[in-house]
Amino acid sequence: MLRLSAIVLFTLSIIENVCSNACGHDNCETAIDIPLITKLNAPLKAELDITSLTIQLKELIEKHVNQSVSKAVNDLVENILDKTVQTAVDRLQTSNSVAMATFRQEMEAELEVKIGKTQTILDNKLKGDMEQLKSEVKKATEKVAVTSCAHRTQTYNSGKIITFSNVKMSNGIGNVNNFKSSGKFTCEKPGLYLIGVYIVSYTKNSEFHIMKNGINVSRVYVRPYLNSADDNHHTGTGIIAVQLDVNDTLNINAYSKMQVLGSAYSCMTIIKVK
Ligand SMILES: *[C@@H]1O[C@H](CO)[C@@H](O)[C@H](O)[C@H]1NC(C)=O
Ligand SMILES: *[C@@H]1O[C@H](CO)[C@@H](O)[C@H](O)[C@H]1NC(C)=O
Ligand SMILES: *[C@@H]1O[C@H](CO)[C@@H](O)[C@H](O)[C@H]1NC(C)=O
Repeated sequence: MLRLSAIVLFTLSIIENVCSNACGHDNCETAIDIPLITKLNAPLKAELDITSLTIQLKELIEKHVNQSVSKAVNDLVENILDKTVQTAVDRLQTSNSVAMATFRQEMEAELEVKIGKTQTILDNKLKGDMEQLKSEVKKATEKVAVTSCAHRTQTYNSGKIITFSNVKMSNGIGNVNNFKSSGKFTCEKPGLYLIGVYIVSYTKNSEFHIMKNGINVSRVYVRPYLNSADDNHHTGTGIIAVQLDVNDTLNINAYSKMQVLGSAYSCMTIIKVK
């Protein structure tokens, strides 16, 4: 409690900060004596209640301390955080680069294995392709020819296959025995073929067909329908080119019932041109 209003000057600077919370009359326990001097140099005494001041000062100091501490703590935390983050980043980078190195090694190893496997596959494929190419070239360039004649004179019914079992020459044909017995030529090497047939027959109106895959591709008329007391053998000749694939067949069919003269009078030749 202030007894002298003159003292107000003294505390003005402090009170500026703290006067909002002035002490009530009954609560003021803490007081200090302040010696004062009047204009006449007479001693005076003021009793100053500083309870409120003390509390206000405490709060003020605390606030400043808090601010300082909090700043220091903040700096510290920031510093620690910085370091921690840096360490974490460093660690991450390290572990990342280790992981990357491992990953890379593994990938490289795997890639190597895969490349090795691919190489083997390619090698094998290339080998296979080369083998196939070789055999195809061999097949394509190999000579294929057969000339065969009717072994003996024989009469065939309409639609029957005429056989030429007396093989004069054969080249590049695996199934020549089959051809001999059945009269059917089966293509083993695809390409362009020439087939030529001549047949001597005594039968009136005789006619034969060149058949590819069972379908007549050419018909050859041998002897006209004429009565004659004299020898009346005639020769019919047919020559055609055919494109043959593997397993295509060629054969000669009697169109109507006809005699086919043997002993090299009736022959057929099949030759692969290309
Ligand atoms: C100072 O900080 C303490 C603890 O954080 C808090 O309890 C107190 O109220 C603060 N004082 C001031 C004046 O800000
Ligand atoms: C095939 O034979 C039939 C008779 O059976 C005949 O009509 C046809 O013209 C012949 N085709 C060829 C291409 O010779
Ligand atoms: C040709 O015929 C044979 C026997 O029937 C068969 O094994 C083969 O696969 C055939 N080839 C082609 C290319 O059709």
